Amino acid sequence: TSFRVRSRWPVMVRNLRGRVGSKVEAVVMGEAVASEDEDLILPNHEFAQHAHVPSFEKYLEMYKRSIEDPAGFWSDMASEFYWKEKWGPHVYSENLDITKGNINIEWFKGGITNICYNCLDKNIESGHGEKIALHWEGNEPGLDDSLTYNQLLDRVCQLANYLKENGVKKGDAVIIYLPMLMELPIAMLACARIGAVHSVVFAGFSAESLEQRIIDCKPKLVLTCNAVKRGKKVINLKDIVDAALLGSSQNGVSVGVCLTYANELAMKKEDTKWQKERDVWWQDVVPKHATKCDVEWVDAEDPLFLLYTSGSTGKPKGVLHTTGGYMIYTAATFKYAFDYKPSDVYWCTADCGWITGHSYVSYGPLLNGATVVLYEGVPNYPDPGRCWDIVDKYKVTIFYTAPTLVRSLMRDGNEYVTRYSRKSLRVLGSVGEPINPSAWRWFYNVVGDSRCPISDTWWQTETGGFMITPLPGAWPQKPGSATFPFFGVQPVIVDEKGKELEGECSGYLCVKNSWPGAFRTLYGDHERYETTYFSAFPGYYFSGDGCSRDKDGYHWLTGRVDDVINVSGHRIGTAEVESALVLHPQCAEAAVVGVEHEIKGQSIYAFVTPVEGVEYSEDFRKSLVLSVRTQIGAFAAPDKIHWAPGLPKTRSGKIMRRILRKIASRQLDELGDTSTLADPQVVDQLIDLADT
Ligand code: WT7
Repeated sequence: TSFRVRSRWPVMVRNLRGRVGSKVEAVVMGEAVASEDEDLILPNHEFAQHAHVPSFEKYLEMYKRSIEDPAGFWSDMASEFYWKEKWGPHVYSENLDITKGNINIEWFKGGITNICYNCLDKNIESGHGEKIALHWEGNEPGLDDSLTYNQLLDRVCQLANYLKENGVKKGDAVIIYLPMLMELPIAMLACARIGAVHSVVFAGFSAESLEQRIIDCKPKLVLTCNAVKRGKKVINLKDIVDAALLGSSQNGVSVGVCLTYANELAMKKEDTKWQKERDVWWQDVVPKHATKCDVEWVDAEDPLFLLYTSGSTGKPKGVLHTTGGYMIYTAATFKYAFDYKPSDVYWCTADCGWITGHSYVSYGPLLNGATVVLYEGVPNYPDPGRCWDIVDKYKVTIFYTAPTLVRSLMRDGNEYVTRYSRKSLRVLGSVGEPINPSAWRWFYNVVGDSRCPISDTWWQTETGGFMITPLPGAWPQKPGSATFPFFGVQPVIVDEKGKELEGECSGYLCVKNSWPGAFRTLYGDHERYETTYFSAFPGYYFSGDGCSRDKDGYHWLTGRVDDVINVSGHRIGTAEVESALVLHPQCAEAAVVGVEHEIKGQSIYAFVTPVEGVEYSEDFRKSLVLSVRTQIGAFAAPDKIHWAPGLPKTRSGKIMRRILRKIASRQLDELGDTSTLADPQVVDQLIDLADT
């Protein structure tokens, strides 16, 4: 692969060297520079001096090498980790062009390693065994715990030995349905240690969703806990697991063991429903096992985990990540995008049930030997100052969260922030959806006291790690822009025909090469992998996001362009919500769209056509919402049910979502051409019913 200088490069380089770059240089030289560009936040001199990547020049040098010589660049990154046997003969191979056969991505194939070994044993061997790996902060203030790297390894080995004793072997799937207890990362690492494939299901998913995932991946074991407290609420997780396991066994998938952690602060053991032949208390069996467990050495391309995510059809997709490339990619992105140093204390508010919790609560930080804060509860409990209370308590230096939380804390007022010191903070991060400039500024000015760079990291479950992200200190920031690609990533913006656009432009965001952290397939459905991601624009990976690039080469993500809604950073397929609604016996048809929401980014807006003779009632509305809660989970519940005697359809029967989106957002003067509808009157009816 040879590096071709594309025409947008000179623009990006020239501008950063000229307009932006001269200022950066002055900052680095310690001169005070006033930015006449309102939109440009210059890096702080002190910060840049000590950053891993201290200048745009240094970035360019590294980026160019990563593109010209990916094999050399990534081999160097990989050699910082332990490989029992080196990969070879190729560092990577890729075919991203569906017209040239099967899509096939491999990195470090033939290399033999283990990610758990690299997270734990390796850090211990290099003398960091007594460093804190995990600080656990409970839902209730004052409740906490911690584990050093040595202690974490002991716990992981005990569970790994238990899993082995129960017949879990390399390649077997294990479902993990746990809240943010230390047992959650412990469970992930224990699976990785023995080569088992974990599939964490976010503990906010309903029994139906869990059942669907159990049926799909047929786990040997399910790991869970009896209950958890989130804020003031107690959530009975065991009941949900019981229902899911009953459902899956009726569908021919029986799980032999349900290992249940007794979380007695939330629910007493004796209050927990129990099936003697299947259920086992974690604390009764796991601590009896040896604290040493040999590592199962695996190939770099052996699967590490499955994580289900939403797409534009009703069935969730099992995104499969493998070991070696994912390991190197999460480690490198964590180190550079947060400018991680060994003295940092890192807190990411994401749950391990999502990809952010896989890559940037567990693997990325632990591979770097970091101290990680794990928080069980909700961020505004008991009051909206909780996050800053936690930051001060653990002297958090890197704080990574989602725009939805930033916006909600912003609404609660500065007082909750400023009453805490926060002086330990050094770097802030944002993920999950585009961060609007006003939230960005509040995060920067109020939370970070105008001192901490913000890494607005654009990436996806599928990408494994950051794709477009600031490198703090290396270049000026623009509030709301994810800025430039990470090493080794070649993002392109294409038009609807798949033509690459140059310079200032906007279109569909694709990637034209493979990177080590990329997912390798959708579990059990490689064809869907190829058609969903690689057939829209042959030769490219298509992200599903829209993006524009400005005159300085900065990237601005504009949201999903497919039928996926982003609610508080959670990805929800409209088709999934629609299927949940039509399961209600009195619902004839449903169409779901996303509308802008002040706090959540987007909220779910559902048009529902009842079956003949059914009248609108508040009870009916509630039972429709309940249907979504039980089919998917509370986080996917529609905010609004819009009564729809009919839906706007073309003569061929296709629902015109464009019109529904306009009605949902009350942009009634922008409905556009409705003459192609089978029954244009439907639109007036819907408008009349809008506020009932
Ligand atoms: C979708 C992926 C990857 C972690 C969490 C979500 C949106 C994510 C950003 C960002 C703009 C973002 C995209 C993407 N997204 N981060 N910094 N700026 N949009 O993972 O559930 O796989 O969702 O989240 O739309 O496609 P996910």
